[in-house]
Amino acid sequence: MNSIDLMVKEHTYIKRMLSVVRKLCIALVNGNEVDQVVFKKAIDFIRNYADKHHHGKEEDILFEQMKNDAGTQPGAAALLGMYTEHNMGRAFIGNLEMALNKYSQGDKDSKVDIIANAIAYTDLLHRHIDTEDGALYKFAAAKLSDHSKEEVERRCNELEKDANEKHVQEKYLAILEELESIV
Ligand SMILES: [Fe+2]
Ligand SMILES: [Fe+2]
Repeated sequence: MNSIDLMVKEHTYIKRMLSVVRKLCIALVNGNEVDQVVFKKAIDFIRNYADKHHHGKEEDILFEQMKNDAGTQPGAAALLGMYTEHNMGRAFIGNLEMALNKYSQGDKDSKVDIIANAIAYTDLLHRHIDTEDGALYKFAAAKLSDHSKEEVERRCNELEKDANEKHVQEKYLAILEELESIV
């Protein structure tokens, strides 16, 4: 399925941003000041590319189809785990943003919350992506009916085309490359 191959490819971009975030945190541990602009760009990528674009495609299209397909319904518990992890990721990023705001208002101790939430997010997402690449996507590719696969392809292609017209992929890959060049 081309759409699953594309989602695996998107994971490689997301993992590259996780490496950027880890490097930003290591710089903080080594005494650097918090660069709000850089952290906010990483959060923009995480919220709008990793979450809205990628997790949105999983939640609204692939997982939705898996829930309704007899072949993949035995994996319902695994799917619930994926939704929960998406939500945990959103909570870590919300906490990271709050800690960044407190830091900018003079609460320097918030540095520890910036690091804790950013690293917790990277650890969660790495394990989440490994589960999807290594098990869930393979299960979907093997067990979804032909009709379901066609439906996933059709809806993913539509979403990709729409995002492409809005330059979503182009914008966030540029942010990724920009941040990689400065960490
Ligand atoms: Fe996911
Ligand atoms: Fe994913």
